[in-house]
Amino acid sequence: MAKKILIVGSQGQLGSDMVEQSINSGYEVTGYDFPQIDITSKDITVSLASRIKPDIIINCSAFTAVDECESKVNEAFAVNATGPQNLALAAQENGSLLVHISTDYVFDGEKESPYTENDICTPKSVYGKSKLEGEQRIQSVCNKHQIFRIAWLYGTKGKNFVKSIRNAALAKSKQNETLRVVNDQIGTPTYTVEVCRQILNTIDHPLYGIFHCTCEGFCSWYDFASVIIKASDIRVNLEPCTTEEFPRPAPRPHNSVLENSRLKKHGINITSCWEKGFEKFLNEEKLQSIYKRRSI
Ligand SMILES: NC(=O)c1ccc[n+]([C@@H]2O[C@H](COP(=O)([O-])OP(=O)(O)OC[C@H]3O[C@@H](n4cnc5c(N)ncnc54)[C@H](OP(=O)(O)O)[C@@H]3O)[C@@H](O)[C@H]2O)c1
Repeated sequence: MAKKILIVGSQGQLGSDMVEQSINSGYEVTGYDFPQIDITSKDITVSLASRIKPDIIINCSAFTAVDECESKVNEAFAVNATGPQNLALAAQENGSLLVHISTDYVFDGEKESPYTENDICTPKSVYGKSKLEGEQRIQSVCNKHQIFRIAWLYGTKGKNFVKSIRNAALAKSKQNETLRVVNDQIGTPTYTVEVCRQILNTIDHPLYGIFHCTCEGFCSWYDFASVIIKASDIRVNLEPCTTEEFPRPAPRPHNSVLENSRLKKHGINITSCWEKGFEKFLNEEKLQSIYKRRSI
């Protein structure tokens, strides 16, 4: 009999691909998102899980507006810390595995080499602090948990850097202006489907705790923007700039590179290099636009 997965945040950028990939892998999948479920309510969360009785709960929901978190501290902690705690209580009560998604923002970005799961977390932003507290609350409540720290996420659904850069490049190109992109922050662009495949390749193993889970290799935002613009065939003048020249409400880590140490140690790391991940994303986009044209 197929195992049951409950995916929370099923309409989000990662959650929608998680639903599709889990179904393709033969699981019986139920998806819920806000407002059908509000994970900040313990009663709603626990009773939903006890009704569905999933073998696995995958939490893709979060308060992801990093800059907004700086002014909406209570909301950020409610969704990113209390919410995961409620899901952990629900998982513990049902004997389910809880899969949770966390972030590179739990680190301050000052390290001069890739971060491993053993590095100490000293988040700088409210978003990072709230996500770290979410990790800690899960660890204190639920025995069977897998927490995947991901970074620089993009996919075919939702808002992300790829879409923002294309829009900005088109606008600048029309105005005959230069597009400036930050070149002193490094990380690993990671396609949603790569994360989904890695999660599905890990959930059958009786391994618990925190896993770093990004594509391989790294680049700067400027490098990634160059690749996006070239692939999109947009003619625009692109220039590197510094973080100081591009002030934002929430501080960003300069080094966001995560090493998938634990996945590699157990021989179950299947993520591609980020360039290959981006090629897969472009192919998926092409396929989706062909299906869309055919269905019109
Ligand atoms: N995006 C990145 O670059 C990145 C990087 C590192 C880690 N992550 C992590 O990856 C995960 C997925 O990110 P994503 O980009 O897919 O996020 P997303 O597109 O913003 O999706 C998050 C989903 O959670 C829902 N949600 C918000 N509050 C909720 C609540 N109280 N109860 C239930 N659902 C709620 C949202 O609904 P509404 O739309 O209605 O608010 C949305 O559908 C998150 O844990 C995030 O922290 C993301």
